[in-house]
Amino acid sequence: MVRGINMGALVLAAGKGTRMNSAKPKVLQEVLGEPILAYVYDALEPIFADKIWTIVGHQSELVAKAFPEQNERFLLQEQQLGTGHALQVAWPHLVRAGLTHVLVVSGDIPLINTELLDTFITEMERTNAPLGFISMFLPESGSYGMVLRDNNSVIDIVEAKDYSPAKHGKDTGEINTGVYLLNIAELAPLLPLLSNQNKSGEFYITELISLAVESGLEVTGAQTGDKNLLGVNTPAELIAAEETLRREIVHNWLKRGAPLHFADMLVIGPKVNLDLSAHIYGPCHLLGNTTVEAGAVVENNCFIKDSIIGPGACVRAFSHLERAVLGLNAIAGPYARLRPGARMEEGAKIGNFVEMKKAVLKQGAKVNHLSYIGDAEVGAGANVGAGTITCNYDGVNKYRTEIGDGAFIGSNSALVAPVKIGNNALVAAGSVITKDVPDGSMAFGRAHQKNREKKII
Ligand code: UD1
Ligand code: MG
Repeated sequence: MVRGINMGALVLAAGKGTRMNSAKPKVLQEVLGEPILAYVYDALEPIFADKIWTIVGHQSELVAKAFPEQNERFLLQEQQLGTGHALQVAWPHLVRAGLTHVLVVSGDIPLINTELLDTFITEMERTNAPLGFISMFLPESGSYGMVLRDNNSVIDIVEAKDYSPAKHGKDTGEINTGVYLLNIAELAPLLPLLSNQNKSGEFYITELISLAVESGLEVTGAQTGDKNLLGVNTPAELIAAEETLRREIVHNWLKRGAPLHFADMLVIGPKVNLDLSAHIYGPCHLLGNTTVEAGAVVENNCFIKDSIIGPGACVRAFSHLERAVLGLNAIAGPYARLRPGARMEEGAKIGNFVEMKKAVLKQGAKVNHLSYIGDAEVGAGANVGAGTITCNYDGVNKYRTEIGDGAFIGSNSALVAPVKIGNNALVAAGSVITKDVPDGSMAFGRAHQKNREKKII
């Protein structure tokens, strides 16, 4: 086996994942906010670049939607008749692509990584066997395929359902991880020989092992696996994998010197980027493409996804952010909600129970209490009083509100969009504003107060 001669990868991702108790295909189940299959691609890409094919079947349209960049090399297994059948479906495509070797990987291994695959490929180069797989040891083989050896040489993999101690001997605890390397020319004659005469009635890829041994081909069972190669088949296994990865990510950030307070209660996704001078306080979730920049602070109980927390900015406790941006020294919360498209410029401030969506707060603007700012722009230095609502939706369409620089919006005002409040304009408290307010003027949009003499009844 020589690395790089023309090696590609095949990901098996057509199965339903019945044991997950979920309508969603197993490979789209999430670990720290990312689908399992994304981890598999991340591990493969450094070695195989775009020479990665994927077998899809169950709800393939959902898998395709989640990975548009991989679609070109998606292969459809219309009926999911087993992992061996999946390989048979892919085979002509792999041959046509001119591959000499293929690394086959189950799409349900979220903790798989490039380093483990590299070690395996190196081991296969050493043994030069036409067929190999990664094995590892567990206290018991459980629901995994169990490796059978004779005098140390691999002779078979027995699937859990087909295992009988009387026939196969005692549980060796050596399991098949579901990662294989195959020489295409040498394995081609064996592929049509796979049968479905087993307890599941499925075509097993693992039957290739006994078929190869019977026809005198060498099989390497590379004992290079660790717990990171465990396939996920049940919710409990998914959660265990997620916890393992969470600890590893938090541990790595701490090791690099990030001040993560109450780190046991932090969930940090694999794509999150932290400046080492930013302080994060657990419990918190930081997921997706989130970046926390120099000197920023994220207080406890925040959920932050796909957001940028700028230098010196502060997300105060119990805030929820998604696709939001906080500029230099901006402050959000406590109890702030920033929905997609919320952007706070330098020194802007939102306080408790303020919701922003597709809205910009320009430099130094403030919305300190109990407001909804949606489809809006709030000018530099403007002050939006407690309880102000941008009424952006008429039941059919959405409209924009523009508030000028230095404007002052009195408390409990309703700004009925589309509407424009001019620079340095003033809106009286309790107003319902339906018409534009010119620069520098004052708008009074409520009934005049009348005081009368109190009658004694
Ligand atoms: C498989 C192995 C088992 C190994 C374990 C490691 C077989 C027969 N058994 O069992 O030896 O210990 O992985 O995790 O291969 N898939 C398809 N098409 C199908 C069926 C499955 O693409 O028709 C895909 C699934 O989406 C999944 C992968 O193949 O990503 C493995 O299938 P799964 O049902 O999880 O096999 P296991 O029972 O885990
Ligand atoms: Mg599995």
